[in-house]
Amino acid sequence: MLETKTIIEEKQGEALDRKSKPIAGNGKKVYIESYGCQMNFSDSEIVASILETEGYSTTRLMQEADIVFLNTCSIREKAEQTVRKRIKSFRKEKVRKPHMIIGVLGCMAERMKSKLLEEEKLVDVVVGPDAYRDLPSLLEEVDGGRKAVNVILSKEETYGDLNPVRLGGNGVTAFVSITRGCDNMCTFCVVPFTRGRERSREPESILNEVRQLSKDGYREITLLGQNVDSYLWYGGGPRKDFDKLSKEEKERSVNFAQLMDLVAPIDRKIRIRFSTSHPKDMTDDVLKVMAKHENICKYIHLPFQSGNSRILEMMNRGYTREWYINRIEAIKTIIPDCSISADVITGFCSETEEEHKDTLSLMEYVKYHFAYMFKYSERPNTLAQRKYEDDIPEETKARRLSEIIDLQQKHSLERLQKDVGKTYEVLVEGVSKKSENELYGRTTHNSVVVFPKENYKAGDYVMVKINSCTSATLIGEAI
Ligand code: SAH
Ligand code: SF4
Ligand code: F3S
Repeated sequence: MLETKTIIEEKQGEALDRKSKPIAGNGKKVYIESYGCQMNFSDSEIVASILETEGYSTTRLMQEADIVFLNTCSIREKAEQTVRKRIKSFRKEKVRKPHMIIGVLGCMAERMKSKLLEEEKLVDVVVGPDAYRDLPSLLEEVDGGRKAVNVILSKEETYGDLNPVRLGGNGVTAFVSITRGCDNMCTFCVVPFTRGRERSREPESILNEVRQLSKDGYREITLLGQNVDSYLWYGGGPRKDFDKLSKEEKERSVNFAQLMDLVAPIDRKIRIRFSTSHPKDMTDDVLKVMAKHENICKYIHLPFQSGNSRILEMMNRGYTREWYINRIEAIKTIIPDCSISADVITGFCSETEEEHKDTLSLMEYVKYHFAYMFKYSERPNTLAQRKYEDDIPEETKARRLSEIIDLQQKHSLERLQKDVGKTYEVLVEGVSKKSENELYGRTTHNSVVVFPKENYKAGDYVMVKINSCTSATLIGEAI
């Protein structure tokens, strides 16, 4: 999933209007900054929802906040360094405003646990991804002068009954979580440790959230999970394989293809996206449902991580290069006009020059529309850290990464150049950052399009003729 940073915001006062019971938070202002993947952004909306119910309000200004939360990511070392720097700047603010509470949420909270409180004495409260319902009472603890921590992981928690407060958004696109946690145990990855066991959310609560978003005028929904293809509702609790379900569980079960078949018809004006797909679990049924519903976007993010089967095995990804290529061929057959993006890691333990070339050749074969490309970063306590030596020198990792980036830029440009002269339906997301007279939006293929504003606005579907492109953006005009 794409990593970005944003600031969660909401108009002051709105939160207070909505609450109905006496308030623990008493209007105290909470500022939340989110890092990492879309799941974290989605979780911040759950956190806001829990706190609003308790009488807190949210603010977009750190300076006026009584409580500041960092919703953190641990995926690579650099992600954690960014968080540490940010905590330091919060601590400076705290010198000016001693009553301000600093809290760490999310994956780094889960990974570091009370270390951030005890050894490093950096923050006042530490809360892991499955313990957000406990936030109001943890904040009360802190008010009483104590430090508070809850990093208990759950096998059931999905926050399915909560109504996320849509924060900092454009009113057009929204995330809907469908699973939490991950059972895959890729050897390089911290997520199974920071997010716990995989569990699927009850379909009816997902459908209700989509219905509500439709009523509220949203135009695009992204179904979220670390591995959406392994979504399987059977009644709640940790993930089980379909074969292991009882007869009754099988009868009431809903898998990812079936879930999308239920979500798509709710509102044909709502585009459906999903992230992330896993090559080992992506079935033809999923592809067929995508082909069947026009409002499911023709775009798949299908991380491959490495183009070499020995490395894939060491990564415990559960597929080979050949299997991955088979999935690419299935996409091409069932959805001929589908765009594909990927994640790739370079310089994983013991990766040879030949094996690195296999990654390049797989990229050459698929010609991804775009890709997120990373140097391997060893994470404490992962299987790879325990079993393998992180033996690829930094310069080699950097050089291999730049080769991968160069190749991908070439492919991205080639892909977008093929769109020049074509006309696409674009869902407008907002005003372009570069010019007030231009709007930006996306095609079904997830390509960003910029075009003159005229009288169009965010949320409109506009037919745009593409006249030119850069390696990242299509440039066109409404027709
Ligand atoms: N669940 C998703 C990925 C989530 S993490 C999936 O399986 O595809 C997002 C991406 O970060 C991964 O796809 C991987 O490319 C990268 N990543 C994860 N751990 C990493 C590590 N230790 N070093 C470098 N990149 C990593
Ligand atoms: Fe990490 Fe693998 Fe799970 Fe993705 S599928 S979150 S890479 S363990
Ligand atoms: Fe996401 Fe980072 Fe956690 S990528 S699941 S926020 S470690």
